[in-house]
Amino acid sequence: MISPETIDAIRSRMDIAELVREHVPGLKKAGRNWAARCPFHQERTPSFTVSPERQTFHCWGCHEHGDVFAFLMKIEGLSFYEAVERLAERTGVAIAKRSESMSPADRERLRIREALQFARDFYHGLLLNSGEAAAARAYLAKRGVSAASIENFGLGFAPRRSDTLLAEAQLKGFGSDLLVAAGLAKVQEGRGLRDFFFGRLLFPISDTKGQVTAFGGRALDDSMPKYLNSPETAVFSKSRTLFALFQALPAVRKSRRVLLVEGYMDAIACHQFGVVEAVAPLGTALTVEHATALARYATHATVVFDADNAGLAAAVRGAETLLHAGLEVRIATVPEGKDPDELLQRSGVEPFQRCLAEACDLVEFRTTLAMRGRKAELAPAEKASVARDILGTIAQCPDEVLKAEWVRRLSQRLRVDEGALLRQLGKEPAGGAVRSPRAAGTRPSPRPEGGAGGMGLPPADRQILALVMRQPGLAASVQETDWTSAAAARIWRALSGLDVSDAAWPQRLMAALPPEDRILASALLVGESPSRDPEADLSAILGRLRREKRLREIEPLMKGDAPVDGAIMDEYRKLLTELKGSRK
Ligand code: UTP
Ligand code: MN
Repeated sequence: MISPETIDAIRSRMDIAELVREHVPGLKKAGRNWAARCPFHQERTPSFTVSPERQTFHCWGCHEHGDVFAFLMKIEGLSFYEAVERLAERTGVAIAKRSESMSPADRERLRIREALQFARDFYHGLLLNSGEAAAARAYLAKRGVSAASIENFGLGFAPRRSDTLLAEAQLKGFGSDLLVAAGLAKVQEGRGLRDFFFGRLLFPISDTKGQVTAFGGRALDDSMPKYLNSPETAVFSKSRTLFALFQALPAVRKSRRVLLVEGYMDAIACHQFGVVEAVAPLGTALTVEHATALARYATHATVVFDADNAGLAAAVRGAETLLHAGLEVRIATVPEGKDPDELLQRSGVEPFQRCLAEACDLVEFRTTLAMRGRKAELAPAEKASVARDILGTIAQCPDEVLKAEWVRRLSQRLRVDEGALLRQLGKEPAGGAVRSPRAAGTRPSPRPEGGAGGMGLPPADRQILALVMRQPGLAASVQETDWTSAAAARIWRALSGLDVSDAAWPQRLMAALPPEDRILASALLVGESPSRDPEADLSAILGRLRREKRLREIEPLMKGDAPVDGAIMDEYRKLLTELKGSRK
């Protein structure tokens, strides 16, 4: 319905790399192409590429591909028409009138959005100006919500009369079916059509472009429910939407950090007090969709909740969901009995910032929680149960190096052998699949070496590989005989065959590996190695490994009956001393 000439005109004026970069800030030059972590599936290594020559994108991980229109449709959930319209506007290309060329479903969605936008403006005007809204204005003032916040979030007021919006909207030509489809009106048995919201303070909920898709409405007295959200509609899905994300996006994109709070008022207070990376789910648990969306913009997330919250388990689960999506997650607790809104309004931003600064990582948090009220040294059965529990969290992390580091810390805190924890972790469902209830019998059997979990790798192999991935030039210092596992050796050989001065070496490496090694390699590739000096660390590890090996070779001689050559004797003593020194 749109002429091919229009499409071509838009295409010729667009640069796909520029468009992609607006949504995928991590896009980096990789040879003639661009590469980044794919925005359409969860991954830790870049398999998403953009070709400026062909003006297309392609992900060899999830196989999404296409042109500028396909990219925009997919990333913003637009119809083809909407994508064309958006890019036409951007490039200044004129297209045929929409009503002639839109599908009925597209036209309906567009009308729903128009109705919602109308409702937002209408309700906002009422909050600012109507006499009936005086109590609502007083309520906001009492709660410390500034005029700037009211504007920033477009807050509104729905009067008690239950046909206020209906009457006004119908005058403007929005039909009743449309208002019902938009979630702005509902049919109540015996009473006919009425407004969905009445007698409430309204919080417009928008998509990432700032277009209203729904409302949250708070009662101004004790009437129930305290908060009422719009129903699910063609343009609104609660499990995909985060309140304040539109307002937070510029800051989140810049800092790559996001803050998750629990409620509308918490998010608004955060923004008002300058903590502008705050977003809130809409009264539901954080979903995989939320986490995947956030992973497009952020690398770090902090989940905030109050210490006495009954939903503590839900907060931990939310944090796990974020971890699973590849975000680095921390949990911050505000003092008991307060939520961020109360803390900020009562004590200002400093104490809140302190809480954020003291946030601890998820595993730390869970360990502390599990040990609370227990003796420092747990009974064996308690240890086993705490370990299993926390390993369940660790298993959600797609980063192998971070996993290994957590296991090391857990082994110290529980005083349990690290190797035993690693073996136990190998039995956990991996971070690659959505977590299933950890009921007996649902766990897959331990995976083979180098499989999805990657924890099957001997610790030394894992450490060496992580360092080499961090600084690929170091691959030349490693020898075939240094490896214990075949998988690690395969990855090292593939890497050694590459020209690592080419920025695209990670993609080349992935392409050179058999599929079963890719997950492990990609986890090591993007995992931040905790090493400050990879070269020195590598040389220390290799030195120790080689000495241990040599020791194992000559040890039997020392224990045998035959007389031992003096030089071997000296070497043996030297090895023992050096190894003792290197082990601290
Ligand atoms: P809270 O009860 O903690 O409310 O619910 P709040 O955000 O602190 O709000 P104030 O300070 O009392 O005004 C947290 C979130 O849970 C959802 C809302 O999203 C709310 O912000 N909720 C709560 C509902 O969806 N329905 C309810 O009835 C209550
Ligand atoms: Mn509150």
